[in-house]
Amino acid sequence: MTANPREGSLLGLDIGTSGARAIAIDLAGNVLVAATEEYPLATPRPGWTEQEPEDWWAASQAVLRRVVSECGQPPLALGLTGQMHGAVFLDESDHVIRPALLWNDQRTHRQCQEITDKVGMQRLVEITGNPALTGFQAPKILWLRDEEPAAFSRLHRVLLPKDYVRLRLTGEHATDVSDASGTLLLDLRRRQWSEEVLDALEIPRDWLPVMHEGPDVTGAVTASAAKLTGLPPGLAVAAGGGDNAAAAVGNGIVRPGVVSSSVGTSGVVFAHSDEPMVDPRGRLHSFCHAVPGAYHVMGVTLAAGAALRWWRDIVSPGSDFEAMASLAAHAPAGSGGLLFLPYLSGERTPVLDPSARGAFVGLNMTHTLAHLTRAVMEGVVHSLKQCVDLIAGLPLPVTEIRATGGGARSAIWRQLQSDMFGMPVFRNTVDEGPAFGAALLAGVACRAYASVSDATALVQLRADVTRPDTDVSGLYQQQHEVYASLYESTAGAMHRLSALD
Ligand code: XUL
Repeated sequence: MTANPREGSLLGLDIGTSGARAIAIDLAGNVLVAATEEYPLATPRPGWTEQEPEDWWAASQAVLRRVVSECGQPPLALGLTGQMHGAVFLDESDHVIRPALLWNDQRTHRQCQEITDKVGMQRLVEITGNPALTGFQAPKILWLRDEEPAAFSRLHRVLLPKDYVRLRLTGEHATDVSDASGTLLLDLRRRQWSEEVLDALEIPRDWLPVMHEGPDVTGAVTASAAKLTGLPPGLAVAAGGGDNAAAAVGNGIVRPGVVSSSVGTSGVVFAHSDEPMVDPRGRLHSFCHAVPGAYHVMGVTLAAGAALRWWRDIVSPGSDFEAMASLAAHAPAGSGGLLFLPYLSGERTPVLDPSARGAFVGLNMTHTLAHLTRAVMEGVVHSLKQCVDLIAGLPLPVTEIRATGGGARSAIWRQLQSDMFGMPVFRNTVDEGPAFGAALLAGVACRAYASVSDATALVQLRADVTRPDTDVSGLYQQQHEVYASLYESTAGAMHRLSALD
């Protein structure tokens, strides 16, 4: 690694769904201090999710102030990351017009249909790498046009969540290619806004921010933002990345073959690729990476940890996830022939269906709470296995799996993944998530590291590796065939039930 001998810290700020998190690291990658501040999430109607951008900014000020005052080493640069896909609507004076619509909001079904009709499914996937999905940003802009015309008439700019905080910090309207990939307005190969898609949807180019690669400097902290945050005025702010791309930098997923499997609220399987790799049916997201010139694909299971939380809140409110995992360990692998479909919030990979529903399939009189609990966890991991298989089928190499997210801290989640994938599962020594990757990108921006791959040389693997049990892997393989056939055979019933709800 070519480290600059300067003393100082690198900062990362993550605008998450439940809160903002800031960290400071030293140039050797040690976490010096971290701070988190939560904010509310509104669900004004079923399937709608919104947040107040002002809450992100207030929480950012609080966590940055804490980190800067406790860190003890002068900051050299700040990198930004955050929840992807959200739409922050701004007027001519950069004032927020209405609460932001988030990544897990499902209200834009009709607008997705319009985008597919206007651009054409095949052309959309060719240009952007992805089909129109309800969570993405572009259909949210059309929703505002259709449903809130008075607000739409004041619209002057649209930003992604972390880029709104960038605006407050630096006064600049800027974004990075990985987060911009989740708008459905990016030309994936050119790494620039797509004139063709913008024209088809009648979205003016000047509503959108200036595009950067992840480690670019996008601006400097203004004097007024410095007063509010404790950051030094003039501090360089790096473009950063969407939360998955930034987390991947922090996890060393920056070369072909190394794949991460994350169990958090949602589940994400993430692979680096040197070239754009696109699933023609759009079941995997194909996005630019936060590594300049590189790409990534990822499969998303919308309810992963969220499925276990839902189940815990029903059967054992107040108990912790460790207790749920111990309960699951009382049931045999395969849960006595019971399967669970985790489509509790609809699903992205592989079914791309906001109306999909969850299900237990195969119940009998011998099943206990332990069997059902284990089936919920196994169902989530079956879903991740579908993501891994789709990535391998692109084809992209899958030679090493790294567990990350909250689930990586649980021995049973790791074992389930290793058994289901039939591969050893590794972990990094530091699992600090997106903020850590954003801090590494800031390090490249201020030339503390020569490149992203130099920065990620700091990421080390733990000695303990979870290895698959071959008998269990064999059983899971057979069960997986049944699991993979269930959506097809139940989709009609799911849709009818959704319509009756
Ligand atoms: C990725 C996605 C989520 C959000 C929230 O496509 O929707 O991972 O970025 O974290």
